[in-house]
Amino acid sequence: MAFFILTAFGHPVKYIWLYLVIVLQVMTTLFTNIKLLAGVRENPQLLRGGELANLPVIENAYLLAEDGHIAGYGEMKNIGDLPSKVSQQLDASGRIVLPAWCDSHTHLVFAATREEEFIDKIKGLSYAEIAERGGGIHNSARKLNAATGDELFNSAWKRLEELIRLGTGAIEIKSGYGLNTAGELKMLRVIKKIKERSPIPVRATFLGAHTYPTEFKNNHQGYIDLIIHEMLPVIAAEKLADYIDVFCETGFFSPAETEIICHAGMSVGLKSKIHANQLNLSGGVQTGVKLGAVSVDHLETMDEKAIAALAASNTIGTLLPTAAFFLRMPFQPARELIDAGCAIALASDYNPGSSPSGNMNLVVAMSCIQMKMLPEEAVNAATINGAFAMELQDTVGSIGIGKKANLLITKPVASLARLPYSFGSNLIEKVIIGENIYGAAGI
Ligand code: NIG
Ligand code: FE
Repeated sequence: MAFFILTAFGHPVKYIWLYLVIVLQVMTTLFTNIKLLAGVRENPQLLRGGELANLPVIENAYLLAEDGHIAGYGEMKNIGDLPSKVSQQLDASGRIVLPAWCDSHTHLVFAATREEEFIDKIKGLSYAEIAERGGGIHNSARKLNAATGDELFNSAWKRLEELIRLGTGAIEIKSGYGLNTAGELKMLRVIKKIKERSPIPVRATFLGAHTYPTEFKNNHQGYIDLIIHEMLPVIAAEKLADYIDVFCETGFFSPAETEIICHAGMSVGLKSKIHANQLNLSGGVQTGVKLGAVSVDHLETMDEKAIAALAASNTIGTLLPTAAFFLRMPFQPARELIDAGCAIALASDYNPGSSPSGNMNLVVAMSCIQMKMLPEEAVNAATINGAFAMELQDTVGSIGIGKKANLLITKPVASLARLPYSFGSNLIEKVIIGENIYGAAGI
């Protein structure tokens, strides 16, 4: 729109009316001959257990997007009901159209990659051993504290653009590499700036409790006090976060410490999302359930009690298979979780230490190949349940009237299963984000 107004000012006044007509006209895009329109839900509910296998589809469909939102859809044979004025038409013959991925767990803002630790891991060091040597989260914190807000914004923005092209249509981003008041606030302000400028919805999570800074190694209460009395008041005043997160793990934050920190966050309006049961049976899942957390994330290390607690709750279990893959850990027990009736989401955990990839196509493929999720279960977990894990289910994650037109269009494929089956191939032809088209013919 701004483009048209600027262009108009460069021309004689008599042409301005023409530009205004263009500006005032709502942009409508019609997708026709869609082989399979998947994830169609008018009143989405959080999917748990057996419900995850049900992916509602319309075969041979059309979809109309108006002003960046879904304004109509249905079978091609009913396309006659459409308004006649359409700004652009895209033929989706042979292609599947899905809601864009909803990635509900990332650490997208970081100062530097950590390939040196990658080599250490190849040589045999564990994640915990690297952390003990001052590597891991501490390594990222040192680099983050040395970087400017602009540097952090610019590198995170490039990552975000890459993810959008890979099909991510909504994203959560955590702090947690500051580990002091100035660093955490710097990160959260960068996330806020991304939120304000991003073409996709962004949710912000405060993860000051990612690990204890070295100077508080033997003074846990001192750091908890800093989080509660120095960081949270500014975060609340500047509205810098939607959620509070704690790395509840042996050697990091205990369940009791997690509860104290999350209660402080909840008292200023932040719901919890917990890093739980990644390395050990840390009690993180039960703690998250007790806190009424929106989600407990990771879940590589589960037992029957943790599974039963999750199944009996409204908390979402967010599985991060690329983190398990990169750290050579057992994959999350998706089948047991689904069979027990849990609500499951899938996310990338994009971060420089345990998942240096935010590619949700790979997340979906791994969940099918290694965790035995059905393609329909994986798509649901990576779209509508991911949206629920960010409380964005009314905006994204499904095909429904009024939802954001944040969509994936695949290349011509025989079936939905081709997406995870052909892992490593990019089968996304175009990504639609509102009025913008990313892909071969687009931005
Ligand atoms: O989700 N587990 C804790 N936090 C991150 C990894 C952080 C890092 O290694 O930098 C995760 O895997
Ligand atoms: Fe994480």
